[in-house]
Amino acid sequence: MVDDPRARPTWSPSTLAVTAGRPPHEPDRPLNEPLTMASTYVAGGDLEYGRYGNPTWTAFEAALGELEGGRCLAFASGLAAVSTVLDLVGHGARVVAPRHAYNGSIMQLADLEARGRLSATLVDVTDTDAVVAACEDAALVWLESPTNPALEVAEIEPIARAAHDAGAYVVVDNTFATPLLQRPLDLGADLVVHSATKFLAGHSDVLLGAVLTRDDQLHDVLKGRRDLIGAVPGTLETWLALRGLRTLHLRVERAQSNAQALVRRLEEHPAVEEVRYPGFGAIVAIVLAQGALAADLLTHQTRLWVHATSLGGVESTFERRRRWKTEAATIPDALVRMSVGIEDVDDLWEDLRSALDGTGG
Ligand SMILES: Cc1ncc(COP(=O)(O)O)c(C=O)c1O
Repeated sequence: MVDDPRARPTWSPSTLAVTAGRPPHEPDRPLNEPLTMASTYVAGGDLEYGRYGNPTWTAFEAALGELEGGRCLAFASGLAAVSTVLDLVGHGARVVAPRHAYNGSIMQLADLEARGRLSATLVDVTDTDAVVAACEDAALVWLESPTNPALEVAEIEPIARAAHDAGAYVVVDNTFATPLLQRPLDLGADLVVHSATKFLAGHSDVLLGAVLTRDDQLHDVLKGRRDLIGAVPGTLETWLALRGLRTLHLRVERAQSNAQALVRRLEEHPAVEEVRYPGFGAIVAIVLAQGALAADLLTHQTRLWVHATSLGGVESTFERRRRWKTEAATIPDALVRMSVGIEDVDDLWEDLRSALDGTGG
């Protein structure tokens, strides 16, 4: 049994990250929810079978639920969560989404559209008037803020109001901001989606997704879909992600302060034509003045920064996004997305600066 959050005082997010989802303080109870490896349970209780529930998932869901202020369901991956939410939309309905959302989400929309399942309208999320106009007749408004990898920020509140006036659900992919920097349910969103693979788990060793809502009916429908299609999380993955969550506030604070210091230095470097940073978080994008070849060169000549996809781990990683054929053609060819980690900022800068110096900028 996980602690009932209603019985607790209101704590700050840093305290919740450490305390939420723990077993009750009773003699001989472990401090952490144990790893329950079970495909089935003795009949007669609430769980019955491993696809319907697991105490380790429940602990992770309780913790993330408290941080986002909603009820949480964990999924096998971020994209399993995205797919389950998109499946809520009725046949032939219209979905509004950012043109620069994570390319896996865009690819799911394109696939569903190609199969006649729904129609998608892609918008510039920074143009609130255009997004509001696009909400008319939509069934679902998908937001990602900041977007991956363009780092555009959407005005969630006015867009959510317009979407609700049109009778549409609003979903926010909160992977980049984390609940510590943005709580979309407080801003009017109906659903929040996470790739918990990223900052929430935080150590580049887990694939996991999550969906959150304050709407009990939506929660039950999504739980029913998860039970039915089996997009369930691994037990070890949820346990590791919960362990990662315990230090989320420290990791985000440090990575964000490193990112802010690096942005100031990158803006001064002649090899960098443009720095994109929304002012918060630990993801930065730079566009190299000398083009895609210089960007590729940069990602191959550092010792500390790791050339790798994904983001949100303790270690600093980067990649030229257009090396993926699936990335939007409107993302600059020479854009390098940087996931700033928690290393020493001067070491990070020295490694980056000497690699930038070597790109011929
Ligand atoms: C913003 C965003 N949403 C969703 C996903 C998909 O998550 P996963 O890789 O855990 O399936 C990603 C992955 O990069 C992402 O960056």
